[in-house]
Amino acid sequence: MEKITLHDKTFKPFIPNGQIEKAIDDIAARVNLDYEGCEDIPMLVCVLNGAVMFTASLMKRLNFLSEFVTIKLSSYCGTKSTGTVLNIMGITGDVRGRRVIICEDIVDTGNTIIALKEMMLDKGATDVKICTLLLKPDVYDKDVKLDYVGMEIPNAFIVGYGLDYDELGRNYPDIYVLDR
Ligand code: IMP
Repeated sequence: MEKITLHDKTFKPFIPNGQIEKAIDDIAARVNLDYEGCEDIPMLVCVLNGAVMFTASLMKRLNFLSEFVTIKLSSYCGTKSTGTVLNIMGITGDVRGRRVIICEDIVDTGNTIIALKEMMLDKGATDVKICTLLLKPDVYDKDVKLDYVGMEIPNAFIVGYGLDYDELGRNYPDIYVLDR
């Protein structure tokens, strides 16, 4: 793996694809354990744009009926969290009376996921679980439980596997970290 340049910044290899897919195997096993054989049809809420690759990969491994919906939120500008979560595009389905699994690429401050969990409960979801591929535990300071976490990473800015730096870098199968 080689370094990549996106806009004005250089990123170095950080997490190879094989390790990411392995983490998704582990998440899927845990989700299956909790939902396999369930009588309802849970809804997977994919948080656009970053969680597209992760959610697609996770869905292929799930052994129960589910529906797929999306929502577009944004709290990041460049390489920093703004602290304000914007609802860019409404959710594409009705979660009233349904169990929901929020699929997120990364939890940083937790602002996005907390706002989203509240939004789902306000809209009448009966249960909301949070599933994230990555977590920055040094930054996450909220009390809300993260139900499924794939991998913990240090507080650094990363791209690839759906994650972007000002919209670039989402397409890389591996994850890269900012090279200081
Ligand atoms: P939070 O609201 O601070 O938890 O930030 C979550 C959102 O910020 C994620 O859905 C990502 O879109 C974005 N984000 C957080 N950390 C990174 C990163 O290291 N690289 C790219 N995007 C990130």
